[in-house]
Amino acid sequence: MYTKIHKLFEVLMDATRTQPEAALGWSSAASPRLADFVADLDHSMSLDWSGQSFQGITALRENIIRTHSPAGACTPDDVLVTAGTAEANFLAMCQLVQPGDEIIVDTPGWQQPVVLAQAIGCVLKPWHRHESRAWSLDLNDLESLVTPRTRMIFICNPNNPTGRVTLDQELRDIATIAGRVGAYVLCDEVYAGLEWAASRPTPICDLYERGISTSSVSKALGLQGLRTGWMICRDAHVIREAIVLRENTSEIMNVLGEAVAEIALRPARYSQALATARADGARNLALLDSFIATRPELSWHKPQAGLIGFCKLGSDLDGDALAARLLAAPHRTFAMPGSAYGFPRHVRLGVGGGAAANLELGLERLAACLDAWA
Ligand SMILES: Cc1ncc(COP(=O)(O)O)c(C=O)c1O
Repeated sequence: MYTKIHKLFEVLMDATRTQPEAALGWSSAASPRLADFVADLDHSMSLDWSGQSFQGITALRENIIRTHSPAGACTPDDVLVTAGTAEANFLAMCQLVQPGDEIIVDTPGWQQPVVLAQAIGCVLKPWHRHESRAWSLDLNDLESLVTPRTRMIFICNPNNPTGRVTLDQELRDIATIAGRVGAYVLCDEVYAGLEWAASRPTPICDLYERGISTSSVSKALGLQGLRTGWMICRDAHVIREAIVLRENTSEIMNVLGEAVAEIALRPARYSQALATARADGARNLALLDSFIATRPELSWHKPQAGLIGFCKLGSDLDGDALAARLLAAPHRTFAMPGSAYGFPRHVRLGVGGGAAANLELGLERLAACLDAWA
C-alpha cells in the first residue's frame, strides 16, 4: 500500500510554514486550554498505559454513546476510541475494503477515502453532489453506482466542504440500498452538533447494523490536539478488525487524550461547550454570509452545518491563484482552494479557529485582494 500526497495537505503544509495573520478556512471551533481541564484530571494517574483497554476507557465510551449515539441502538462495547476521526476512517477502510472492491465516495467530500481507496487499489466510484441543488446527493445516482461488488459507501455528513446535511430519511434510504448488497456505510460525522439549517442527523450506527459512525472531539469542541476520536459500529467484527490494525500502528492507547476527552464529553460540560461553539459559529457565519452577499464575484449555498462552506468564484477568478495571492504578503490570509476538492473555480471559506483566526481582518484582506484583482 502506497499513499500519495493530496492537494489539501500540500496547501495545509504551505499555510503552516507561512504562518498567516488571518484564516478564512479553518473548520474547528475555538480551542479550550489544558488549564480548563486540569482540576478535573486525576493527578495521580500513572503514565504506564500498557495495561489499559485497547478499546478506550469505559467512562469515555459511555460518554461517547450518550452524546453521539443516544438512540439506544449502540452500547459502549460498540465503540473503539481512535486517534481522531482520521484514524477511525483509516482503520475501517484498510480492514474492510480490499483491492478490487468497489467503494462509493461523496464528492466534493473528504479527501481521505479517495487517497486511501487509491492506495488500497480498490475501484473508486464518485457520488456527485449537485451544486444546483444546494450540494444535495441524489439517491437515483446511488442506485446506479451500487453493484454486488460495492463494499463500502463513504459519506461525510455534515459534508466538508459544502456544509450540506444528509437527513434521516435519506440516510435510511442509503442504508436500504447498501443493505441489498451487504455494503458498509461509513459516515464521517465529525461536524455533528454544528447544524444551523437542519436538525442533527441520526448517526448511521443507530440506523444500520453495518453503519459505521466516525467522529471526534476535534471540531465542535475544538479539541483536535487531543487526537481523540472514535468509531461506533454494532458489527463486532468491524471493531475487532480495527483494533488489530491499530495495534500494529500506534500499539497502545493515548490515555491522557482519553482522560481529557472524557471530561469534555460529560453531559453538562458538553452542552455548555456546544452552546458556546454554536453561538460563535452562527454569529461568524452570518458575518461571512453578509460579506459574500456584497461581492459580485462570490456566491455560495450557505452551509447547513459546520464552520466551512464552498464558495463559487466569478469567471475571472481561479481558486489556486486567489488562495496563493491571499496567502502571500501583504494579505497573509489563509483560504483553501477548491482544487483541493477537484473544483478549481471554488474556494473553501470558513469561520473556525476562534479569535486567533482574525476573521474580520481576513475578510478585509480578502476584499482588498479581490479589489486589486484586475
Ligand atoms: C471531514 C473530516 N474528517 C476528518 C477530519 C479529521 O478530524 P480528526 O481531527 O477528528 O482526525 C477532518 C478534519 O478537518 C474532516 O474535515
